[in-house]
Amino acid sequence: MKHPLHIGLAAGLVFGTASAQQHDHAMHMQHPPQAAQPAKAAPKDARQAVQFPKTLREHTLANMRDHLLALQEIQEALAKQEYDRAGDIAEHRLGMSSLALHGAHDVAKVMPKGMQEAGTAMHRHASRFAVAAKDVGATGDVRPALAALAATTAQCVACHAGYRFK
Ligand code: HEC
Repeated sequence: MKHPLHIGLAAGLVFGTASAQQHDHAMHMQHPPQAAQPAKAAPKDARQAVQFPKTLREHTLANMRDHLLALQEIQEALAKQEYDRAGDIAEHRLGMSSLALHGAHDVAKVMPKGMQEAGTAMHRHASRFAVAAKDVGATGDVRPALAALAATTAQCVACHAGYRFK
């Protein structure tokens, strides 16, 4: 998959229009909207299937669940204006400092290039978020941190849209 993010966005649009179409059908049976056309085909799983050795796959999925937990804890810390804490969670659980923790070296060997790139970009953006979160204390502006957090989750989205396990 060259553009996993694009596929993700397209899938989102398809699902979005599917429900819009149903609603629209009920309201105006005689005018099915043109834009809803792609929703007619059953959604196809176009993700590239990647083979990981069993232990590594289990390890990776456990990491994934911790990624989601980390995002939740980060959002909670942001809500409490605990910016340093938000930054620490991001750096240690998602950022560049988490690479060893994730056995990134072993994982990289079995990942296709695009998948590796999404992973690396995620770690990089998470570390950027950590810096931006720590800056909030000085600048009082949380927006750069929120943008960096969105850039981080965009990499979760991109990788999930492009790849799955076999
Ligand atoms: C480099 C690729 C990649 C990145 C980046 C990535 N994931 Fe995943 N994630 C996967 C793959 C592959 C699966 C397995 C999907 C499948 O086989 O259907 C997965 C599965 C998951 C699961 C399900 C775990 C389970 O037990 O089944 C969660 C939750 C998850 N990811 C959260 C995240 C979050 C949150 C982020 C970002 C902070 C993230 N992932 C970033 C590749 C990635």
